[in-house]
Amino acid sequence: MLSTDVRSTFLTFFRERGHFRVPSSPLVPDDPTLLLANAGMNQFKPYFLGEREPGHRRLMSVQKCVRTTDIENVGRTTRHDTFFEMLGNFAFGDYFKHEIIPWSWELLTGHYGLDRDRLWVTVFRDDDEAEAIWRSLGVPADRIQRLGMADNYWSMGVPGPCGPSSELHYDRGPEFGPEGGPAVDGERYQELWNLVFMQNLRGEGTGKDGYEVLGPLPARNIDTGLGLGRLTAILQGVDTACETDMMLPAFRFVQERAGREYPGRHGGEVSTSMRVVADHARTAAFLIADGVLPSGDGRGYVLRRLLRRAIRHARLLGIEGPLLADLTGRVADGLGGEWPELVSGRSLIAKVVSVEEERFDRTLRQGSRLLESAISKSSGSLPGRTAFELHDTYGFPIDLTLDAARSAGLTVDEDEFGRLLEAQRRQAHEASQGRKGDAVARQDLYRGVLARHGRTEFVGYDGTSAESRVVALLDGSESRTRAHEGMTVEVVLSRSPFYAEAGGQVGDTGRVVTPSGTLEVLDTRLGLDGLHVHTARVVAGEVGTGEEAEAVVDADRRAATARSHSATHVLHAMLKRVLGEHAAQRGSRVEPGRLRFDFAHFGAVTDGELATVRTLVNDYLLDDPDVRVWEADRAAAEAAGAVALFGEKYGDHVRIVDIGDASRELCGGTHVGHGAQAGPVHLLGESSVGSGLRRIEALTGPDALRHYDREGELLRELARLLSVPADQAPDRLRQRLATLAEAERELTALRAADLSSRASVLARSAQPASGVVPHTGPTGAVAADVLAVCAPVDGVPADSLRGLASETLGLIPRPGAVVLGTVADGKALLVAAVSEGLGIQARDLLGDAARVVGGGAGGRGPLANAGGRRTDALPEALAVAARTVRNVLG
Ligand code: ALA
Repeated sequence: MLSTDVRSTFLTFFRERGHFRVPSSPLVPDDPTLLLANAGMNQFKPYFLGEREPGHRRLMSVQKCVRTTDIENVGRTTRHDTFFEMLGNFAFGDYFKHEIIPWSWELLTGHYGLDRDRLWVTVFRDDDEAEAIWRSLGVPADRIQRLGMADNYWSMGVPGPCGPSSELHYDRGPEFGPEGGPAVDGERYQELWNLVFMQNLRGEGTGKDGYEVLGPLPARNIDTGLGLGRLTAILQGVDTACETDMMLPAFRFVQERAGREYPGRHGGEVSTSMRVVADHARTAAFLIADGVLPSGDGRGYVLRRLLRRAIRHARLLGIEGPLLADLTGRVADGLGGEWPELVSGRSLIAKVVSVEEERFDRTLRQGSRLLESAISKSSGSLPGRTAFELHDTYGFPIDLTLDAARSAGLTVDEDEFGRLLEAQRRQAHEASQGRKGDAVARQDLYRGVLARHGRTEFVGYDGTSAESRVVALLDGSESRTRAHEGMTVEVVLSRSPFYAEAGGQVGDTGRVVTPSGTLEVLDTRLGLDGLHVHTARVVAGEVGTGEEAEAVVDADRRAATARSHSATHVLHAMLKRVLGEHAAQRGSRVEPGRLRFDFAHFGAVTDGELATVRTLVNDYLLDDPDVRVWEADRAAAEAAGAVALFGEKYGDHVRIVDIGDASRELCGGTHVGHGAQAGPVHLLGESSVGSGLRRIEALTGPDALRHYDREGELLRELARLLSVPADQAPDRLRQRLATLAEAERELTALRAADLSSRASVLARSAQPASGVVPHTGPTGAVAADVLAVCAPVDGVPADSLRGLASETLGLIPRPGAVVLGTVADGKALLVAAVSEGLGIQARDLLGDAARVVGGGAGGRGPLANAGGRRTDALPEALAVAARTVRNVLG
């Protein structure tokens, strides 16, 4: 059975049982608690928690998952993969154990045809009900095992929905391991399908069973996960997912490049390395396709580790030189049919992995030498200091050291490694604190102000001016009580209508007027969370702490910024609509009348796509959608579908901005009251700002209109120059360009004809080489072995001189030489051409002459040129060249 049939059999089975298919979520989850998608249920978390209502009570999916918690096992066992596809069906407050258990049995034994005598079942330790259902299906009691929290209780690994589970395992036979069922050996009794009875809430805690289980969820749910790779391997009679049809193109390629066949599951290190390389390349390709790039932390670090492990194992297999770009291409060959992002992202993936491979190879070369010598000197355990030095000096990841040590039968003193790492982190921290001394002092100052005067009351959502009081004036890291005219200081107010730069939106500017003076606010930012710091210049009088103040924001600028902010939200929504959900915001800059929006995408946005986005954005805004701002608990907001931005931090209580039905984001920014106030939006263009990252810049409102005006003015100017109405300008310009091209063609032809006729005149001036002198007139018929022309020419462009010399030489009836000289572009130029077969280089004829004009000669073989600044010496140079010709060829 091909893997595509394995997928479709599952989907058909559950479709017939009332399930709708939901697409896989991207690997980068819309869930800040989760690093990478690790189960089909991730995207349904709000449904399980009862925070959101699913549109349908029965869903199913084929979910991309990445799990790297067991990374050292990958390649060493036949069942661990860092990437896998999970076939899953889900029920929300609908069916439960009595349905899913018999269905799973029917699907595995009936539709996939697995031998029922090889299937084993585990249930949670006190789940009598599940056991009874399995028994009723004819599963013998001795093939049902009860296990505890670690094995039969499932959660995402973080607080959230959880529940007891029941798992189906397949006995792969005694050659895989000892008897005794899944409780004894996971290699032999391979877990295939996990049925989770999702009914509780998991609390804090670490470790697989080191967490508390809180009360029940609002409803009883079903969440299942059937590993596609494992099932397909069994159905295709192979040991590992690498050997299934999905992975064969990549796995064969690894073997080809290693110059040996996969030695099977008993092939020791070679087999391990082959599987690691193929598995990790696959995971990397999927991660990059979903917008992850290698980096030093978070998801980027997961990717970097995978790539580095893959490269190291490739080198262990003796594969030298770049591998990963081609290999990830083969991954796409096997999986691109089901996962088109591998195909569309192909060149980006290749680029990213190549750069990483090149960089890591350098690291490896240095680190490996050190590691090998350390291993050869160690017995039992490798010192933690060595592992640390490798990590610190060579960027050699600890898991590679662990891996290599393990292959050599050694352990690593990980405690010592951990201690050294910690000490280094502390040092680095202290050092950077020192450097940041000033900034730290200022933060202390802010903290003091915050402690004494409390948080700034921000009143800028409701208006642009406020009665307030000056609570602090700061000058560098000093606090002062007064500031006089001309000084620029930081001002803290008791209440402020000024928006402080955050979420990409620039800070407000404006004025603060006190009874004794006026401040011009140049910028506003958050000194600390809750503390608005206004950078301001005293423009009149002086200002003191404690004074009453009237704070007035530049309302036009604020309005122009609000337009850009609302336009940014709508642009975000429409980009996703046109390009796909992956096109999520990665950064933005919201300014008065202008915005910059960075988002994930794998290639250039085409002109057509951009035009569609522009139309959608403007149509949407012109429809004048309501802008609604509301507040809620973070969980409720997310359950309501609010888009939280990547990398932004939000508190538990959040502000949500809705613009019509299509845009809902968590946002602290200021917005227009109605959509139409934000338009029009003019997209200036799109560009790349890093791999996988694109940028759109746009103008909004009057700034967009001014831009149109300017463009209109340009068009009118062009039309005036072309003497036609504007709408005829393009046609007229096209005609003019065609005429011009025609004229240029004619000119070129005329020049060529002119050169030819000059060449024939020059050829007729040929003299015997033995007596040649600079000369231009015809000589009549001359008879000599070698003929030469040496002549000044006029009005020949510099770039035609060589052609003229060659052409002249071609017209001389005998072997010969041609030396021409002219003045062009303020320089004296000389060119020499000689017939091949005379045994001399053209350059030999020009050396002395070149010196006369104050330059040098260059060129090889039959054609050479020379040039110098002394234009007045050209006649003399030609005389010298003629002498050289006489001497050399005469
Ligand atoms: N969520 C369950 C798992 O991932 C089905 O195993």
